[in-house]
Amino acid sequence: MEKQTYPWWQTGILYQIYPRSFQDSNADGIGDLKGILQRLDYLQWLGVDGIWISPIYPSPMADFGYDIADYTGIHPIFGSMPDFDELLRQVHARGMKLILDLVPNHTSDQHPWFLESRSSRDNPKRDWYIWKDACDDGTPPNNWLSVFGGSGWEWDEATGQYYYHAFLKEQPDLNWRNPEVQKAMFDVMKFWLDKGVDGFRVDVMWHMIKDGQFRDNPINPSYQSHQATYEKLFPVYSTDQPEVHDIVQQMRRVLDGYSDRMMIGEIYLPIHKLITYYGPQNNGAHLPFNFMLLNIPWEPLLIAGAIAEYEGALPAGAWPNWVLGNHDQPRITSRVGLQQSKIAAMLLLTLRGTPTIYYGDEIGMVDVPIPPNEVQDPQGLNMPDKNLSRDPSRTPMQWDRSDWAGFSTARPWLRLNAAFKRTNVEKQKDDPYSHLALYRRLIELRQGEPALMTGTFSPVYADHQAMAFIREAPSAKSFLVVLNMSHRPCYLHIQHRHVSGTVVLSTSMELEGTVVSERINLGGDEGIIVALDT
Ligand code: GLC
Repeated sequence: MEKQTYPWWQTGILYQIYPRSFQDSNADGIGDLKGILQRLDYLQWLGVDGIWISPIYPSPMADFGYDIADYTGIHPIFGSMPDFDELLRQVHARGMKLILDLVPNHTSDQHPWFLESRSSRDNPKRDWYIWKDACDDGTPPNNWLSVFGGSGWEWDEATGQYYYHAFLKEQPDLNWRNPEVQKAMFDVMKFWLDKGVDGFRVDVMWHMIKDGQFRDNPINPSYQSHQATYEKLFPVYSTDQPEVHDIVQQMRRVLDGYSDRMMIGEIYLPIHKLITYYGPQNNGAHLPFNFMLLNIPWEPLLIAGAIAEYEGALPAGAWPNWVLGNHDQPRITSRVGLQQSKIAAMLLLTLRGTPTIYYGDEIGMVDVPIPPNEVQDPQGLNMPDKNLSRDPSRTPMQWDRSDWAGFSTARPWLRLNAAFKRTNVEKQKDDPYSHLALYRRLIELRQGEPALMTGTFSPVYADHQAMAFIREAPSAKSFLVVLNMSHRPCYLHIQHRHVSGTVVLSTSMELEGTVVSERINLGGDEGIIVALDT
């Protein structure tokens, strides 16, 4: 039988860099491209294969770069185009891949396209955005809400119409039904692909097309006041429209004009809808981000159920993926605690499918409390009483114990974790019991073992405390993974399947080398990976 080969984005591990917070090279307190360059050796040492960088384009920074004013430039804060070219070259020289953030749903209100569009009703770019007349009483055309609070419609006095913005009013939505918009964005993709960029993480992919009739969204009867105001309605007409798939497939065709490129879709939808973004013949997104683990209660029966739901729903030929955190979400440590975040790492790096690691999670960075007068994230500023600011999970990377944690020689744009002298890369690098050591060993094991990298997944156990599964690949070593998701000792008995083997990696290194069979005890917060006897 011929050996199956897998593309890099199936075998590889991805790492997300939030560029403002990774490494500053020019003492302005804000991370930049040269800073990332300085840390490539670290990423190579860690063992990740692909780097996704959040937006680095010219932007007024109303939403920290997700409001783009020029899709084919580099914001001076992050460096220059030669800096970018050098970064790409160096990433490739290390055998790694570089993925850029593509934000096609909306531009900045300072983008020349929007400046033209709002200049008059008969400007040729008027229809590039979503303009509508007011209702007879002057109110917005429908009830659609902005994700960041308030109405999704902004009145433009000069031209007497409303424009739609799913996010800030500084982020007007493009009209993707307009073929000129489509072409312009495909040209943006080609610009970066021609440079050699390996793919895109596509921002809010499920928002890209809206209902043709602009009907009112229905009311969410279970809305609770602590939630973002956006949750008051079900966004059934403003997002996830059937026509979006045609756009996604067109984007895919652009990528398929090049070799070995890929597209990740940022999509927050229930699984049965998420999987439609793979496309009917796997001709959509290569990896629609699977965000299941981001907010599921940390209970093994629920998690085992969610994994099974996902595995069961995946279309034939579709490749899975897993995520524990990103720049929009609380960090995993702050959801499940420091000890359990090691179990989460073991889960992320032993599940079937491409893992994406959020910068700093590998050293157990936690959400940093940001005093109200230092909040910068517009989501936090717009809804101050709801603890929705995303700043806490965007704080500077903690490299070492020097001033400003080795991130910068100047005061960082966002405050550092006060405990950075205890929690940093330099300290953890040489500590075999550290978070970083665990991440690195998990990565090394996964990347060296076909069963863990690309093998099948079979659940074998779940109860209120623990879960276990087996990974197998033809003519390769098989592995049993057992995770105690509670703080108390657990005792499990794997039935229907004979297992025996040796622990090769554990959150408690003392367990490594122990022989294991169907009856397993683990201490609180312990996880093991067992190489099964053949
Ligand atoms: C995505 C980004 C988020 C941004 C939003 C609007 O959800 O991840 O950071 O605020 O899109 O562009």
